[in-house]
Amino acid sequence: MVDTEIAARVAQLRDLIHYHDYRYYVLDEPEIADSEYDRLFRELQELEEKYPELVTADSPTQRIGGRPAERFEAVEHRQPMLSLENAFSEGEAREFDNRLKRFLRQDEPMTYVVEPKMDGLAVNLTYENGHLTLGATRGDGWRGENVTQNLKTVKTIPLRLRGESIPPPAFLEVRGEVYMDIQDFKKLNAAREAQGEPAFANPRNAAAGSLRQLDPAVTAGRPLKMYCYGIGDVQGRLFASQWEVLQTLKAWGLRVNPQVERHAGIEAAIAYHHRLEQQRHALPYEIDGVVIKVDSLDLQARLGLKTRSPRWALAYKFSATQATTQIKKIIVQVGRTGAVTPTAIMEPVEVGGVTISRATLHNEDEVARKDVREGDWVLVQRAGDVIPEVVKVITSRRTGQEKPFTMPTHCPVCGTPLVRPAGEAVTRCPNPDCSAQLKRAIRHFASKGAMDIDGLGEKIVEQLVDNGLLQDVADLYRLSVDDLVPLERFAEKSAQNIVNAIQGSKNPPLERFIYALGIRYVGEATANLLAQHFQSLTALQQATEAELLQVEGIGPQVAGSIREYFQSEKTQALLQKLAAAGVRPQAPVRPQAAPLAGKTFVFTGALRKFSRDEAKALVTALGGKVASSISARTDYVVVGEEPGSKYAKARELGLTILDEAGFEQLLGRTA
Ligand code: IVH
Repeated sequence: MVDTEIAARVAQLRDLIHYHDYRYYVLDEPEIADSEYDRLFRELQELEEKYPELVTADSPTQRIGGRPAERFEAVEHRQPMLSLENAFSEGEAREFDNRLKRFLRQDEPMTYVVEPKMDGLAVNLTYENGHLTLGATRGDGWRGENVTQNLKTVKTIPLRLRGESIPPPAFLEVRGEVYMDIQDFKKLNAAREAQGEPAFANPRNAAAGSLRQLDPAVTAGRPLKMYCYGIGDVQGRLFASQWEVLQTLKAWGLRVNPQVERHAGIEAAIAYHHRLEQQRHALPYEIDGVVIKVDSLDLQARLGLKTRSPRWALAYKFSATQATTQIKKIIVQVGRTGAVTPTAIMEPVEVGGVTISRATLHNEDEVARKDVREGDWVLVQRAGDVIPEVVKVITSRRTGQEKPFTMPTHCPVCGTPLVRPAGEAVTRCPNPDCSAQLKRAIRHFASKGAMDIDGLGEKIVEQLVDNGLLQDVADLYRLSVDDLVPLERFAEKSAQNIVNAIQGSKNPPLERFIYALGIRYVGEATANLLAQHFQSLTALQQATEAELLQVEGIGPQVAGSIREYFQSEKTQALLQKLAAAGVRPQAPVRPQAAPLAGKTFVFTGALRKFSRDEAKALVTALGGKVASSISARTDYVVVGEEPGSKYAKARELGLTILDEAGFEQLLGRTA
């Protein structure tokens, strides 16, 4: 029998953790430090371990720990998960509104709830008496798959509903979209590529692929999120409107998109569509339109359903991200690393609400593979904030007048003969002083994710370089108002603004400074890893290739490129010049809750006190990683009883080996 005091403490810890999860993941307003949260979590874990009879299915410790499945069970939906009718123009949206009014014989404006149409995958969550009991994918709309264990690992999904203001009903189905933020998607892909795994094509595929993992531990490591937008079957509560549904879901601790709005009349809904289309690329996640829903549930019931979609809702899509246009000519552009990129100059065309007239053709081989010629009609696409690209040639529109492309032999900017190293796709201008490279390097240095210097646009950089004012990025810090004023389109005020912006950029976070240097293969994610690992520019500069390879996520190609960069005399002179100008990057603060960040563990043999899953969870909760096989990059090998061949290998490699007590000690020290 467990002491009632202990049982009460366990219940209290669970409540506290649920509450802080809600503050952190749903409201985005944490109340306590991560370390304090971790302490609560550990205390609960320890008590549950000692008194397994106190573990409940909705305990926060149970998010991880589900066993891998052989396959997913089928789940019949109690109410079908329908799809939506699409509209692509204001006219079609107005037609929808007219149809509803005719159907309902109503003249006054309809009240609509308008919501972003998330580009993820639909799921159904079942809560019984407030406890999450089932999670299923949409499947074909009638039958989906039971992915409860996987959905439980998604932190924005509450395992139990909050009941302070409105008690949860006896039975509730919640519907919503599981998705991945664009940044998280990029990081995931970068990590996959570094590991030699194939990248996901888009955040939607990444979300779907992550949710449909047979091993919940894999899903747990994927940054999935959820927004709820509706309900299915409900028992024990009546709603009057979609708006009330959304507000109530929020009160129950479910995450609802803050962009939802309620308006009278279709014109306001159309205005919302236009507003969101403008903001679309500034949102952290992908949306492909807005959903317009009749607010009143009575009216929804009267309107009823068609076979696959309800009559009361409409997906009003954004303009296509693909379009067809004609290529006028193919030029080459010289990038900051000297890469020479063939670029199509096209008849301007609107794609996804923006007019474009250029699209990248990536490299010589791509041009050949797609057989793109001057004069061709092509399909172009724009996705998110990436550069528009040519998808394919519409060969049926060829006239025979099209001109094939040949890569120039000399740099179009400085005339130096171009080189293409064997085995590489990229052609380069090898002249480090080529002004095209310098211009790109300066623009990259000043860009948002880098030094974030406002006002240094393409035209201005061009003038500064062409007038001999900048020979490298460090020269920026020597610019004075008097240097700028004589140039075209500079007034005293704008010159002063730029000088201020430059001077104000001298203390960037280390990761942004590393990114700003423009080292080949070092994007924002890698720069972050490097800053976290080395903590100072000097440490990074002095790192050997072996030390660089110790950084999780960095492979030989990247390490080689970093070494080469810092070894070059030109770099050393540049860094000295920047330091002399007063540029001092700020060391990153190590995240407190992640004392094991950057550390990789491998387990072998049976532990007595911890199950393997639990041991893994402890490591990941403290920011560490668990790998299945040993390599030189493994930081700790934890050896239990009857260890396997990994133990021998670990000794061979001279890795740090911990027994169970040592492992516990390490956790205790860092907690
Ligand atoms: S309502 C009966 N609201 O769009 C209404 N769906 O084409 C059905 N979706 O499978 C869905 N955001 O995956 C609704 N705010 C939103 C949505 C949304 C994205 C997706 C959902 C659904 C598909 C329908």
